[in-house]
Amino acid sequence: MAVLSLTEDLQRHGLRVAGVASPRVLAEGKTIGYRVRDLATGEERPLCLDRPPGIPFRRFFFSPEGLAFANDLIEQAAREAEVIVVDEVGPLELAGGGFAPGLRAARQSRAFLVLTVRPSLVNEVRRWAKVKTAVTLDAPPAGLRSRDETRQLFDGSASSYGSWGGSAGPLTGYAESLAKAAELVQVGPGERLLDIGIGTGSFAAQIAQSDTEVWGVDLSTVMLSRCREDHPGYHLREGHFLSLPVPDRAFHAVVSSFAFHHLVPAEYERAFREILRALVPGGGFVLLDVLFASEPDRQAARVALGDLWDDEEVYPLVPAVEAAASQAGAAGLVSHRVSPLHWVVSGMRPLRTVACGS
Ligand SMILES: C[S@@+](CC[C@H](N)C(=O)[O-])C[C@H]1O[C@@H](n2cnc3c(N)ncnc32)[C@H](O)[C@@H]1O
Repeated sequence: MAVLSLTEDLQRHGLRVAGVASPRVLAEGKTIGYRVRDLATGEERPLCLDRPPGIPFRRFFFSPEGLAFANDLIEQAAREAEVIVVDEVGPLELAGGGFAPGLRAARQSRAFLVLTVRPSLVNEVRRWAKVKTAVTLDAPPAGLRSRDETRQLFDGSASSYGSWGGSAGPLTGYAESLAKAAELVQVGPGERLLDIGIGTGSFAAQIAQSDTEVWGVDLSTVMLSRCREDHPGYHLREGHFLSLPVPDRAFHAVVSSFAFHHLVPAEYERAFREILRALVPGGGFVLLDVLFASEPDRQAARVALGDLWDDEEVYPLVPAVEAAASQAGAAGLVSHRVSPLHWVVSGMRPLRTVACGS
């Protein structure tokens, strides 16, 4: 958790840091609640779960004891600490519940406040907390899972992956989008295809011809095992977008479906550098994902999907993805919407330009 490493850094500099972190409770890779942790001692109590008993708020039921524990800690921090950390401040606090009582005391103290806040709520929380001077750090969006949590999520859900029925949320239209995106990729006889975040192999399988050499990279070993069962001929490797375990200039096409959004924006350019490294000059990439043309579009989708929206995922904006690809050196960038929630961004590794003398 970013909050824990930040706290350790501040403590190393000799500052008295206190407050609370909110580690997730995971079951089969899914977040089913949160605990509250005393940053000074490491002691933890249950904070909320996705089922009663407790005080209901949105999809969670909050433990009065957990809330009291957290608020006591924040109030104590307000009396004693030089830096007060509260992770995370959100809709519950804006409605006057959750950590709001502790935060009132924290605001009145002279301590430096560090709040983690979802990007969409930063301005609202600033107004609510009446913070006069605030610095917004360019940190990973608060809602995003860590790499380990993403791996756990897919390791835990691999056995049921793909059986969403009518509740696919942001993946609504998955099969149609996959088919449309697959039409944009051409691999010739005997060529190599790389699928990043290959999962169970659905995208690669729609693109590959009988003689295509398919390679797949994924963070989750369990997803890769499922893929191996269905596609024993694929070359599968555990790995990450940012350091692909594949040779340079080896692939005629690199594709990815519904995996790029697990990166944070600061990682996009590095991911494209890796994609371009793996491609032969003139080779192309096709990236399909839940993407939005603008922040208002993203917020409108969030409202429309209601409880089906996943607040732990921060779906990228098309201009940010294009800018990163271009910065990394991609050519021929084209983006288009393939369904209400899905876009494809495609491009290529430029062919070497040859200077012609007269
Ligand atoms: C929603 S699934 C999509 C799987 C498949 N591409 C499909 O369309 O069905 C996302 C996949 O990306 C993988 N993944 C997530 N973050 C990753 C990363 N940073 N690098 C590589 N794979 C990642 C997950 O383990 C998971 O298998």
